[in-house]
Amino acid sequence: MHHRDVSTSRDSYNAAAPAWQRGPAKLYDRLAEVLVDSCPGTLPGCRVLDLGAGTGAVSRAAGALGANVVAADAAWGMLAADRERRPPAVVADVAGLPFTGGVFDAVVGSFVFNHVAHPREGLAEAVRVTRPGGWVLASSFEADWTHPAKDIVDDAAARYGYAEPGWYADLKAETSVAFGTAGAIAVTLRAAGLVDVEVEERTVDASLRTAPELVAWRLGMAHLAPFIATLSPATQARLTRDATSAIGPDPSPLCPVVLLACGRRPR
Ligand SMILES: C[S@@+](CC[C@H](N)C(=O)[O-])C[C@H]1O[C@@H](n2cnc3c(N)ncnc32)[C@H](O)[C@@H]1O
Repeated sequence: MHHRDVSTSRDSYNAAAPAWQRGPAKLYDRLAEVLVDSCPGTLPGCRVLDLGAGTGAVSRAAGALGANVVAADAAWGMLAADRERRPPAVVADVAGLPFTGGVFDAVVGSFVFNHVAHPREGLAEAVRVTRPGGWVLASSFEADWTHPAKDIVDDAAARYGYAEPGWYADLKAETSVAFGTAGAIAVTLRAAGLVDVEVEERTVDASLRTAPELVAWRLGMAHLAPFIATLSPATQARLTRDATSAIGPDPSPLCPVVLLACGRRPR
């Protein structure tokens, strides 16, 4: 019998935080630093919203520069990770943020608007909570960028019974593609009410070079981590070994092509 998968991205992220911290966090921490550094305004002493905060990559990057950060994410499980060391956080959807207008100097959404079906509405909410003259920053992967480890690890997991969740298939085929070119992002930011919009395409060396690092990156992503957690430790170890040897001893390093976007709320 065919079962339609009904899990949502939020279910998956709620369950993914521990594996995310062991794998993808290294990549996303680096990408958050790059996005925060691209802010045209100064961040020390500013009120910054880390939107779609996950396990806090932007919170750490902006906090290190002296910003006062608040985090928001749809998935409580991601916000709860390492929470003793995190700034104040709220469970919230980008489509309806529980803040009054204009309270933040900057809103930073690192790899979140490529996850939502209606990025313009989410960005309009980000604009609403940004003060006039403040900045909204957003990043995404360039739609054509990929790395061989993605399919290799997904295929290895499929041999253990993994089936791609529906939300991830939609994200791959549509959502991330719609927010995956510089032109589309610029149009979306302007449609959300931002001015002085700029989008930079950049290749970032994420310092992930070995097969075990690449496997941990993939197995910690939200489409896979909840499935992996259902396997026994021995089976997880076998799948990890299979995926590692399928990647081989000399993989190409992880250097994603990312789009770094920013725009200003009109004064
Ligand atoms: C790829 S992760 C990025 C997390 C974090 N910004 C980082 O760079 O490490 C995407 C995050 O967006 C969150 N997210 C997805 N859809 C969302 C929505 N509609 N509203 C708020 N957060 C959402 C997920 O729960 C997840 O934590």
